[in-house]
Amino acid sequence: MTLSIRPADPARPDFFGEASGIDLRRPISRDEAAEIEAGMDRFAVLVFHDQRIDDEQQLAFTRNFGPLELATGDIQQTQRRLAMEVNDISNLDRDHKVLGRDDRARLFSLGNMLWHSDSSFKPTPAKYSLLSARVIPSSPGGNTEFADMRAAWDALDGDTRALVRDLVCEHSQIYSRGILGFTDFTAEERVKWAPVLQRLVRRHPVTGRQNLYLSAHAGTIVGWPVPEARALLRDLVEHATQRQFVHAQEWRQFDLVMWDNRVVMHRGRRYDAGEVRDLHRTTVADSAPTLEQAA
Ligand SMILES: [Fe+2]
Repeated sequence: MTLSIRPADPARPDFFGEASGIDLRRPISRDEAAEIEAGMDRFAVLVFHDQRIDDEQQLAFTRNFGPLELATGDIQQTQRRLAMEVNDISNLDRDHKVLGRDDRARLFSLGNMLWHSDSSFKPTPAKYSLLSARVIPSSPGGNTEFADMRAAWDALDGDTRALVRDLVCEHSQIYSRGILGFTDFTAEERVKWAPVLQRLVRRHPVTGRQNLYLSAHAGTIVGWPVPEARALLRDLVEHATQRQFVHAQEWRQFDLVMWDNRVVMHRGRRYDAGEVRDLHRTTVADSAPTLEQAA
């Protein structure tokens, strides 16, 4: 088997690639890890089909790319179904039963349907996310969409680029959930998820390309009145999620999709909430807060 990485979306030859010739149940070589990193630098999102992995194998693969993040952004911290190293992207409780319509964990998780970048609410946000589809509903829906924030930056007009280039945003899960009207946070959660600062424009450390760094977690811009900040952020998200920048992943069971949160936003789409959908996410932390990285 030889690892091969090629474009998977003919309309976007440098966004969304497919990796084949690798079995993620087994340890990979240093060369293979380097090739995958290079593929991520080019495509920003990679899909690996037919990877029948368990959590241990997913964690072992993820560790090739840097330190793991813990799932401290999940609302369920006790009585968890999965280990702290694995984010639970499912509609299931600990007994593998589908969550009730009004379940707090379910309502909180609906925030995943807003365009976001994983863990942008943490001081050091996520670098890569790796999402493994263990069980997929039989009915249509439930795609994950990815938007290329590099292409969105390239397509911005000069005045807007100059306006946003040095701006800093406040990110918090309190903001993103608030958009959907989810506001019943405990005092402890409000402290834990107090806003953090992130650059609005980032530069990729390897390619040097600039990109917008947007997320539903971004609730305001430092030094700006809140309504003006939110109006601008909405405008930018609208620009950045135009169809020409977006690829929709139509899940097959045992797909693993890996994306670079530094340069893409993503969102989950609606599905039949009565059916089981069970995806497991592992996450590689970035190296530093965005304000400590080169602009
Ligand atoms: Fe996410």
